[in-house]
Amino acid sequence: MQNIVLVGTQWGDEGKGKIVDYLSEKADYVVRFQGGNNAGHTVIIGDQKIVLHFIPSGILRQNTVCMIGNGVVVNIKALFEEVKMLQKLGFQVTPENLRISENAHLILPYHIYMDILAEKNRGDQKIGTTAKGIGPAYADKISRTGIRMSHLRDMKDFEQRVRYNIEQKNTLIAHLYKDEVIEYQYVHDEIIEFRDWVLPFLTNVSTELRQAHHKGKKVLFEGAQGTSLDIDHGTYPFVTSSNTVAGGACVGAGVGPTMIDGVIGVCKAYTTRVGSGPFPTELMDEVGKAIAQKGQEFGATTGRPRRCGWLDGVFLSHAVWVNGVTDLAMTKLDVLSGFETIKIATSYRYPTGVTSNAFVSENDVLEKVEPVYEELSGWEVIPKDCTSLAQMPQTVQKFLSRVEEIAGTRVSLLSTGPDRRDQIVIHDFF
Ligand code: GDP
Ligand code: IMO
Ligand code: MG
Repeated sequence: MQNIVLVGTQWGDEGKGKIVDYLSEKADYVVRFQGGNNAGHTVIIGDQKIVLHFIPSGILRQNTVCMIGNGVVVNIKALFEEVKMLQKLGFQVTPENLRISENAHLILPYHIYMDILAEKNRGDQKIGTTAKGIGPAYADKISRTGIRMSHLRDMKDFEQRVRYNIEQKNTLIAHLYKDEVIEYQYVHDEIIEFRDWVLPFLTNVSTELRQAHHKGKKVLFEGAQGTSLDIDHGTYPFVTSSNTVAGGACVGAGVGPTMIDGVIGVCKAYTTRVGSGPFPTELMDEVGKAIAQKGQEFGATTGRPRRCGWLDGVFLSHAVWVNGVTDLAMTKLDVLSGFETIKIATSYRYPTGVTSNAFVSENDVLEKVEPVYEELSGWEVIPKDCTSLAQMPQTVQKFLSRVEEIAGTRVSLLSTGPDRRDQIVIHDFF
């Protein structure tokens, strides 16, 4: 396999960063294709904890080139701070190993402001966004008034475009939100500080990937968020504003679908969700609390506690289909250690009494379904010295083969702890 897409199969935070870090050892390029700094991808190397928001997790490998594709929305101030953080830790980040699409859209200060105001306005219907300006930045892109990275090359043109946007937004702010309006000077001052720094990173990512392909390079596409947060295939409107599914890699990086050789779906052994919206397998009891505590389930971007529940096989099977998952990477198996029994939802029971294992996209229906569980024996502990599936407790092996049956695809990677080394490879990549 030469070109692999990696995506989250749940509501994000499946451990994508950790798996990307492992795969980057062999990948020549790692490319982000959607989302922005709403993502928080954690890699733990010994006593170093690194959380990446924009930059692909491949940046921690010396010979890997990282790219931010056209499908990403970029806040250049936050990007600058991320680069400085990495440089402080001793990682090299230069235009040689980080390339940014000139077609990627900018997240500007007014997007963050609009994100916060819109959430306030939604009241108890709030989405629980990360307040990073993601939705408003994508809204401008789709309405064709967005500002691209390339627009930074001509500040006169930039000013004209931004002033037009500000005028529109100020009408909304003054009349609907009844709040303080935005001044152009504020946006200008924040951008001008980072403009000269960012320009050398800009490129045409699609063209560079074409050249890389012709040289036989290996490319890993790093998804952010998860399938249930996809704007089309998730629990709309409690979703993010991009296509998080594997198909998004083609659109958000500029490669055709026939280029993709495999799709890795990262899946936690249980489920978590940050923000509002339906969550059929959510546990409001002591078990949910125990999982949250053992799994240290707090948002890597906002620090908010993550809601926890059992693995949802109905959703996983849907995720495998919409992403075309060829291999699953199962993470956080260690967190479930110590439970006498472990549950997987295999179907939903509707208020009418009917049960079905088909995915439901309407929120009001999803809120009312009751998961039907299959109970499996748990495992006491995952021995630290396990290096192969055969050395894993029998109950873990049974759990995994049941997951494979439900998902309809094989499990190829296992993660048994947060550290870079806590990994078991069943089928390798690249
Ligand atoms: P991402 O957004 O998908 O990259 O995931 P996050 O980094 O937001 O959240 C995953 C969290 O789980 C991070 O704190 C990781 O360090 C941690 N993690 C990843 N894999 C494992 C695992 O197998 N076991 C444990 N205990 N922690 C893990
Ligand atoms: P990673 O890449 C988990 C959630 C937010 C909110 C919804 C919309 O680390 O898995 P947004 O700011 O995107 O408009 O918020 O999406 N969300 C995430 N949840 N992991 C993420 O990213 C997320 N990115 C956004 O909590 O419910
Ligand atoms: Mg995360």
